[in-house]
Amino acid sequence: SFFACDEQQKAPESAVDRILSKGVLRIGMDPGYLPFEMKDRQGELMGFDVDLAYLLGDTMGVRVEFIPPSGSYATMLDDLKANRFDIIISGMTITPQRNLKIMFSDPYITVGQAILANNRHRNTIRNADDLNSTNYLVVYLEGTTGAAAVDRFLPRARRIAVSTQQEGVAMVREGRADAFVYDLPAFATLVAKEGKNVFHFIDQPLTFEPIGMGLRFTDHELLNLINNFTRQIQADGTYDTLYDRWFIQ
Ligand code: ARG
Repeated sequence: SFFACDEQQKAPESAVDRILSKGVLRIGMDPGYLPFEMKDRQGELMGFDVDLAYLLGDTMGVRVEFIPPSGSYATMLDDLKANRFDIIISGMTITPQRNLKIMFSDPYITVGQAILANNRHRNTIRNADDLNSTNYLVVYLEGTTGAAAVDRFLPRARRIAVSTQQEGVAMVREGRADAFVYDLPAFATLVAKEGKNVFHFIDQPLTFEPIGMGLRFTDHELLNLINNFTRQIQADGTYDTLYDRWFIQ
């Protein structure tokens, strides 16, 4: 009968089923910067996203495995689609362009792009308009929303892409570039560590960037689990504890 036939049709295994049966949640992460994710000297991962990932693993009763992108930051979208990991947790801004390729959880934090300029510009560059000139060379991290912010706010400036935060910061420090456009919390953490007089940090955000976890379009059960997980920790104080540990107030 129709029903008998239906019963033989096994529902396809969901991402949650697969993660539970393997006992591991594979997380795509590009350890680029604090406070989100960074490798310490021992090669150990640390940061807000890392703590969130461990918490999510605990909640699901599985261990977590961190997997770097195959190429630059943005290749994580294709890596996710190619099933190299189950989710992306990597300070990733939810953008419509990325959302054409993958799903995002509800945002778990909001950041914005900011400008870190060489210290000699302290009295001359007050905002993006001042920096928007062919006289200046700006750097951004390949594949990040910093690139879009440079296009939008600094169309006249000369630009080059770098592949790590360290490289961008070094170029600005040594005056080989005038400024670096990147996520504000990265610069806030850097300036807190190095002191206020090393760089000229313009700390007003240029953009509104909700950060979410990335999932494949098929993985609705996992999306539902993650959104409820996030809401729970935001309401029970767990999230605030993590936030206070990693973010400069
Ligand atoms: N939020 C920015 C973006 O989505 C940059 C994030 C870079 N994060 C990292 N872990 N390397 O493009």
